[in-house]
Amino acid sequence: MTKGWTKTDWRVKPRVQMPDYPDQSALKDVEAQLAKYPPLVFAGEARKLKKQLAAAAEGRAFLLQGGDCAESFSEFSADNIRDTFRVMLQMAVVLTYGAKVPVVKVGRMAGQFAKPRSAGTEVIGGVELPSYRGDIINGFDFDAGSRIPDPQRMLQAYTQSAASLNLLRAFSTGGFADIHRVHSWTLGFAEHDKAERYRALSNRISDALDFMSAAGITSDTAPSLSTVDFYTSHEALLLEYEEALCRIDSITGQPVAGSGHMIWIGDRTRQPDGAHVEFCRGVLNPIGLKCGPSTTAEDLKVLMAKLNPGNEAGRLTLIARFGAGKVGDHLPRLVKTVQEEGANVLWSCDPMHGNTIKAASGYKTRPFESVLREVREFFAIHAAEGTIPGGVHFEMTGKDVTECTGGLRAVTDEDLSDRYHTACDPRLNASQALELAFLVSEELSSRRDEPKRVAL
Ligand code: PEP
Ligand code: CO
Repeated sequence: MTKGWTKTDWRVKPRVQMPDYPDQSALKDVEAQLAKYPPLVFAGEARKLKKQLAAAAEGRAFLLQGGDCAESFSEFSADNIRDTFRVMLQMAVVLTYGAKVPVVKVGRMAGQFAKPRSAGTEVIGGVELPSYRGDIINGFDFDAGSRIPDPQRMLQAYTQSAASLNLLRAFSTGGFADIHRVHSWTLGFAEHDKAERYRALSNRISDALDFMSAAGITSDTAPSLSTVDFYTSHEALLLEYEEALCRIDSITGQPVAGSGHMIWIGDRTRQPDGAHVEFCRGVLNPIGLKCGPSTTAEDLKVLMAKLNPGNEAGRLTLIARFGAGKVGDHLPRLVKTVQEEGANVLWSCDPMHGNTIKAASGYKTRPFESVLREVREFFAIHAAEGTIPGGVHFEMTGKDVTECTGGLRAVTDEDLSDRYHTACDPRLNASQALELAFLVSEELSSRRDEPKRVAL
């Protein structure tokens, strides 16, 4: 991708949010072992995803990216993977109907283990210990031993990612993802007495499927109705792991991150001269870049030039995460910067990370209304600017957890303690995630019907 780049160049750049491993020789052993393991993804798949993201940037597709804030070793099970995959498929069908374009499905799955933290240490009951940084780095339990960074954890994360990806690939093509099946689950959701608002849309999807069957378009005649493309993504935070899984694409001769199809750079690690940008700029995968309130136009210009010097379509996704009520303060200036640079980017909205609050009960939560409000603001601003809102990015799970408040089944502050299972940030549960898909779908279809702005 970038001439003269090597996968170790990040090592001489300033690094933040990465652990200092006390046992360097154990670290070297793990890196050597991982470097011999097969990559988790094939470069051709990353290139295919890039093409689909290029279509989303032009409004010919729509990106749905979602999954856990942090995957964990203890919550690893076939059921959890299946349930998150299932709700993402349901959301994709609902969004496809509203947007009338294909939905590109990218899980925050099979590799989303490393977490940036707002503080380096955590204090509980007067005891101060290093913060938990995700299961690939150290342990969640609040004791000194667990919090020591252990390189062996990278091997377990690799194995878990490989097994997750294997199951996701099987679900994607083995019949589980059949659109009729997926829609039948959604009909179940729409039967809920408070889901009346969503029943009409859900019935229209049923009608469309019935019409297609009557016209001879079934899963037998059209295999695209029973299989899906499903991609994986994670924040490329732990660069020793990323470097060890970096490979050369045999077709193009370019370096590729073998750890997942798409990787992103977080809001805390996007320093233009930092280690994370240095690593990501050299691999051919689609790259996400989180843009928060502190993203300056100047930085964005440099970052776009570094991460996408050839201005390749589908290469760079800007993931806006400002917080409800703040999108108007920041998105227009960044949209303007992108336009001034003539940069090809896909705009996606992460309405999670700017909307985390502490509930009276002490739990970190996110109100459903704030999440929805940020998405709506994102759409409204793109409509006003004449640019394309090409995707959404959610922290969500297929399980019935109580981590975010609100939604039609109305999780309250008092309910949060019932099933608060996240290893990091609060996730939308299956019902909240699907409800949000219905609301975004309504938004997409109403905006599609609006007269387009014409350049005079
Ligand atoms: C995340 O996506 O989990 C995350 C930490 O986001 P951000 O970098 O935008 O804060
Ligand atoms: Co998060």
